[in-house]
Amino acid sequence: MTELMSLHGMDVKGKRVLVRVDFNVPMDGTKITDERRIEAAVPTIEYLLDQGASVIVASHLGRPDGKVMAELSLEPIAAKLGEVLDRKVEFIAEAVGLEVSARAKKLKPGEIIMLENLRFYPEEESNGIEFARELASLADAYVDDAFACVHRAHASIVGVPALLPHAAGFLVEEEFHTLHGLLEKPEHPFVAIIGGAKVADKFELLESLLKLVDTIVIGGAMANTFLLAQGYSVGKSICEPELKGRVVEFISQAEERGVALVLPTDVVVAHSLTKGEPTRKVAVSEIGDADLALDLGPETADAIEAVVSKANTVFWNGTLGYTELEVYANASTAVAQAIIQSGARSIIGGGDTAGFLDQYSNPAKFSFVSTGGGAALELLAGKDLPGIRALQQ
Ligand code: 3PG
Repeated sequence: MTELMSLHGMDVKGKRVLVRVDFNVPMDGTKITDERRIEAAVPTIEYLLDQGASVIVASHLGRPDGKVMAELSLEPIAAKLGEVLDRKVEFIAEAVGLEVSARAKKLKPGEIIMLENLRFYPEEESNGIEFARELASLADAYVDDAFACVHRAHASIVGVPALLPHAAGFLVEEEFHTLHGLLEKPEHPFVAIIGGAKVADKFELLESLLKLVDTIVIGGAMANTFLLAQGYSVGKSICEPELKGRVVEFISQAEERGVALVLPTDVVVAHSLTKGEPTRKVAVSEIGDADLALDLGPETADAIEAVVSKANTVFWNGTLGYTELEVYANASTAVAQAIIQSGARSIIGGGDTAGFLDQYSNPAKFSFVSTGGGAALELLAGKDLPGIRALQQ
């Protein structure tokens, strides 16, 4: 593993430092509904300020596709950052241009400004060199603390570090080391629990996990494609019949490698997603034509709890049922509890799973909850990530 350029090795006193963060947080209007990514960037920003630097915070929010969209402005997020840091954070309504550069030139040690959404500019996602140059011209150094974005070859992730002295922020460093640790020296037995909607999104991860783990548990809607591959009928459940062949192949690869697969033996079904719709617990051989499988059943949850109780390392990504409705959150809640009780080192791969733990469990009881969704999965799938490579040079 090539180490990342360290922030401790960078002289930042009196310097203007451009800090790329990932404040792509869930919002309800202008209200931030999950502040975790903002809080996670605090140690890096405070360290820089304590060292006598001034900080220019840059992020994206959502997918505005190179257009200005008022509802994706970072203004409310700048206000929240100010609250979290208990310092003044001045919001600038642009990311590049004369106003920003004039303000950046006057920055004094200890001051923080925050730029507007980088993705309002098409050159961010196309990694335009001029845009990268303009961003770089605002600062003397660059720090990347946007772990959730290291899988994107965007201007603020790969273009700017090629132009300025650069280092990884503390969040990127911690995420990288924790997730890389799973690739290099996991303590066995190592159990991976993979749920969520689509197998297509997670195939590379699953194939990489075959080389690392002792047991793979499959849940969520993606388990339906595994049931299809085993010859069961899944009624009206979400599934990906086009991936059936690949899943059959995966099941036999797991067998060859001696990796145990825990697949559903029973599920909770209903005829629609309507709240209050009657539910039934059925064996996987009894899913009816009008049924939607929406959670794992109690027998499957017990089987997962049994493997988790013997694990020394657990990686979990993706909820096991349609947890948007509480009635289908039982298997995920039981498994969360089993992980906590097992005392295993537990790594949660961001996104929806982290949101689920916030609602139904206690994220603080897990060893590490990643702030990265796609980035964490790509790293574990063994991919070479552009944002990581940019920090290794
Ligand atoms: C995320 O939320 O996973 C990151 O911010 C990346 O967002 P993107 O998938 O829109 O690039």
